[in-house]
Amino acid sequence: MVLVQAGVPAADAGRLDPDRPGQALTWHPSRSQPSVPSGPRARVEANIAALRTLAELQTGDQPATQAQQKVLAGWSSWGAVPKVFDDTDPTWAGARTELRTLLTEQQWSAASRTTINAHYTDPTIASAMWANLVALGFTDGQVLEPGCGSGTFLGLAPTPLWSRGLIGVELDPTTAAIAAHLYPNADIRAESFADTRMPEGSVDAVIGNVPFAGVALHDPVHNPAGLAMHNHFIVKSLALTRPGGTVMVLTSRYTMDAQNPAARRAITEQAVLLGALRLPNGAHQRTAGTNVVTDLLILRRRDGTETGPGPDWEISTPVELGTGTAPVNTYFVSTPSTCWAPSATTTAATPAARSPSPPPTTGGAWPWAGAWARSPPTPSPPGSATGPAT
Ligand SMILES: C[S@@+](CC[C@H](N)C(=O)[O-])C[C@H]1O[C@@H](n2cnc3c(N)ncnc32)[C@H](O)[C@@H]1O
Repeated sequence: MVLVQAGVPAADAGRLDPDRPGQALTWHPSRSQPSVPSGPRARVEANIAALRTLAELQTGDQPATQAQQKVLAGWSSWGAVPKVFDDTDPTWAGARTELRTLLTEQQWSAASRTTINAHYTDPTIASAMWANLVALGFTDGQVLEPGCGSGTFLGLAPTPLWSRGLIGVELDPTTAAIAAHLYPNADIRAESFADTRMPEGSVDAVIGNVPFAGVALHDPVHNPAGLAMHNHFIVKSLALTRPGGTVMVLTSRYTMDAQNPAARRAITEQAVLLGALRLPNGAHQRTAGTNVVTDLLILRRRDGTETGPGPDWEISTPVELGTGTAPVNTYFVSTPSTCWAPSATTTAATPAARSPSPPPTTGGAWPWAGAWARSPPTPSPPGSATGPAT
C-alpha cells in the first residue's frame, strides 16, 4: 500500500472522495491552509455558522453536502475565544445571545468547558506528523486520535487509511458531531477518553494533540496514579497501542519539563522515546490562537526487542533563562537539535530561547514544518530503538 509522503501537493479543501460515489462525503482539508479563520470575531462567526449548519443537518438524516462541510470545517471550538462564555464581557453579548438559541443548556456547559484546551493543530504541523509516521514505517492499520476535536488528524490521514480504522474520541458532543459529518468514514466516539474502553494493544498507531490540563480525570484502569490530563492521555494511548506501534503526539511542555518525573516514568515503562521536538513559539498562533509551548513526542510501544539504554529524558533541571530559572528536560539540554532554533549556533536550551518565533510564512506554510517532514527527528530508528528490555 502506498501512503501519502511528505511533499505531496496540498489537497484542495473540499475535494470529493472518488471512491465513495453517492455516499457520505469525506472532507479533504488543505495540508497547508487552515480551514478556520484567525481573528476572534471571524472565529466566532465561523463557529456560529457551523452550529447553524449542524442544526440543519440534525433535523434530517442526510449526510452533509460539500458546501455544508465547508462551513463545518470552519469550526475551531472556543479555546481561542473563551471570553464568549464570560457573562461579564460585553464584547460578546450578541454572540452569547445567538449561541443561547443554538445550544441546549447541556451543550452550552460542554462548550464552555472547551475553552480550557480546545486548540486545534495547524495543518502544516499535522501533515508533517503524518509524513513522519509514514517515514517511521507505518503503512497500514488502525489509528486513534484521542481528543480529536473536529478531526484535524483524521482528515489529513493518508488516503488508504480512510477505509481502514480511523477512530476519534472527543468530549464535546457538538464538536464530535461536526467531526462525524466531516469524516463519516471514521468512528467518532463522543465521550471522555477517560471513559473510552477498547482492548489494550488494539490500535497500530496514535496521532494527535492531546488536551492539556493540570487536572486528573477519573480512570481507574488507565490512570490509577492520577496523572494530569495530557500525561494520562499519553499513557492510555500507549496502553491501547500494540507492541511495536507508534504514539506520536503533541503535548504540553510540562510532560517533558515537570520536575516530578512520575509521568515520564509511567511512559517509559510502556514505551521507548524515539524522539522529541520542541515546537517554535507561535507554531499554534495561526490555527489555534495560542502561544503555548508544545513538544512533539514520538514513542514506540515496547515489544521486548529493545536493547541498551534509551535516551535520557527522565530528569528536568533548572536552567537559567535570562529572566529567571525554569526546569528544562535534560533531553532538550543535551540534544540541541531537538529544540527548533533559527540557527544552529543557539545553545541555551530554554523554552524561551529555544522556541523562537516561526519564520515568515511562505504561501501559508511554515518552512520549518516542511524541512522537518523531510528530515524527521528520529534519533533511533524503530528497529534499533533502545531502552531496557522488559
Ligand atoms: C488540543 S485540542 C486538539 C484537537 C485535535 N486533536 C487537533 O489536534 O486539532 C484537544 C481536544 O481534546 C478535547 N478533549 C478535552 N478533554 C477531553 C476528554 N476528557 N476526552 C476526549 N476529548 C477531550 C477538547 O475538546 C479538544 O477538542
